[in-house]
Amino acid sequence: MTSDKSLSPETIAVTAGRPPFGPDSALNPPISLNSTFVAGGAVGYGRYGNETWLALEEAISALEGGKTLTYSSGMAAVTAVFSTLPVGAKVVASNQGYSGVMTLLGNYSAANRLQVAFVSITDTDQVIKELSGATLLWIESPTNPGLEVADLPALIKAAKASGVTVAVDNTFATALNQKPLALGADIVMNSVTKYLAGHSDVVLGSLSTSDPVHFKTLEDARKFNGSIPGPFEAFLALRGIRTFPLRFQKSSETALELAKRLSAHPLVTRVRYPGLPTDSEHEKAKAFMKGFGAIVSFEYAGDGAQTDKVCESSKIVTYATSLGGVESLWERRRRWPIESQSVPESLIRLSVGCENVDDLWADIDAALHAAK
Ligand SMILES: Cc1ncc(COP(=O)(O)O)c(C=O)c1O
Repeated sequence: MTSDKSLSPETIAVTAGRPPFGPDSALNPPISLNSTFVAGGAVGYGRYGNETWLALEEAISALEGGKTLTYSSGMAAVTAVFSTLPVGAKVVASNQGYSGVMTLLGNYSAANRLQVAFVSITDTDQVIKELSGATLLWIESPTNPGLEVADLPALIKAAKASGVTVAVDNTFATALNQKPLALGADIVMNSVTKYLAGHSDVVLGSLSTSDPVHFKTLEDARKFNGSIPGPFEAFLALRGIRTFPLRFQKSSETALELAKRLSAHPLVTRVRYPGLPTDSEHEKAKAFMKGFGAIVSFEYAGDGAQTDKVCESSKIVTYATSLGGVESLWERRRRWPIESQSVPESLIRLSVGCENVDDLWADIDAALHAAK
């Protein structure tokens, strides 16, 4: 079966990572439950390789470009990048991104393992100034949960001109909306847990790179730090990828419509969605993104307790963390103590799933009123 990277993503998602086809061959890769392999081959041991991971890695590579390594979680993939940096290396990162990554970087900095310069990722000039003396620029765009958009082409170009490695967390945009490797980034990271797997039943991560040196360093590191995916999870994630473009397109269309309706709602004070022409990020995003994703963040006209009540009151949208599944989820992000203080107390992050838009809207509207 082909995994030709010039094909459209919908075709890649369906065809990539299949075993070679012949009479009676299986359509799907086996779930290879093996910790050890007979001597003399390329794999040898279950921490070094596995055919089910390889199938998933082939599919993500075909979507993102480059070559892919998968990990036991998105955070394991993030940690793999930071852990290969020399002690004391300077990392430039957004001051408003996924709280897990912010916390990890804060811990590395407190332990004097890395020097971290937190920047406003929307302030391109400030980011470029901070690149002086840096080893790595870590870009998450759009950010979680503020939906800030980095000027990826400008930042990648400036970092490459200064010899700074660039890694992009592509979890929110996905390869359908932006291709960081094609723009010149060195590494692209995905929390496969989210849109790629898509069914809220798997925790996995990936790194893709076009640079053979980065690939070898990361592959060797994974062998010995052991942050490998489970074969069953890899199988489920690949099954999820088959419908990823369909799910993501549907969710994104619904997200735009909900963002419009929320913008006109009397109990909503601000909506963040880069696809809204009125959003501060829209013009920048549309210059290089193909679409704007399926997360909408908005602020409720009430305090933290009332905002929690909104989240508890819905019947279709589930009050839960995470995102990117077929089921819509929402939560008040500040309920987590590690969330950035710059995120407003009343900000709700809504991950739009595949339900009917009017059913979702009726549920959301009722929940907004229920808390007053
Ligand atoms: C943008 C972003 N990056 C990374 C992660 C970490 O991924 P995982 O939960 O798969 O470890 C998350 C999780 O929410 C995320 O939203």
